Amino acid sequence: MGVSALFPTLLYEAPLGGRGARDLDRRLLDEAYQLREDDAAGRRWSTRNYHGGYTSYGSASRLQRISPSFAALERRLDRHVRAFAARLEWDLTGRTLAMTDCWVNIMPRGVAHGSHLHPLASVSGTYYLRTPRGAPGIKFEDPRLDRFMGAPPRRADASPAQRPWVTRPVNAGRLVLFESWLRHEIAANPVAAERVSVSFNYHWC
Ligand code: NI
Repeated sequence: MGVSALFPTLLYEAPLGGRGARDLDRRLLDEAYQLREDDAAGRRWSTRNYHGGYTSYGSASRLQRISPSFAALERRLDRHVRAFAARLEWDLTGRTLAMTDCWVNIMPRGVAHGSHLHPLASVSGTYYLRTPRGAPGIKFEDPRLDRFMGAPPRRADASPAQRPWVTRPVNAGRLVLFESWLRHEIAANPVAAERVSVSFNYHWC
């Protein structure tokens, strides 16, 4: 008799790596703040959809096409996305995974990002630029949750693989990748310093 784990949900976490990563981080962070200054449409969009924070999701969501710094980030992320696809054992014969969207998020104290997934994408992820001590991690939800119905709850000391929700800590200079259908959320930032990140989608084409 044996017990097997089938249908895993994979999460990829790694430092961005590459030469001059610190210098790139500085440029990306400067541009994120500059964008918040310049992007009136994005500030308006954020007032309605990202209350108290700033995101360029509704206004400048293809930063890799307009900024050499974000294009450089795209090139570095490509390598990680390919490695993740290999671990997922995807057959991409004759096709490729390409970045479709890339935007910045600035979360001051009190700003949260409710549960969501990323439609029309294959792989999504976030690269962290500023993660002050005490800033929230990223919380993932078991994709089978709506099927559990009569299932008993998990023990409080259950392993991460068996929990219905798992929060991963986030750190500047590191990235996380997941399949775009995986629901996730960010709790309200409880600290005075801003949490800054770059989120992105890849689609196969
Ligand atoms: Ni997201």
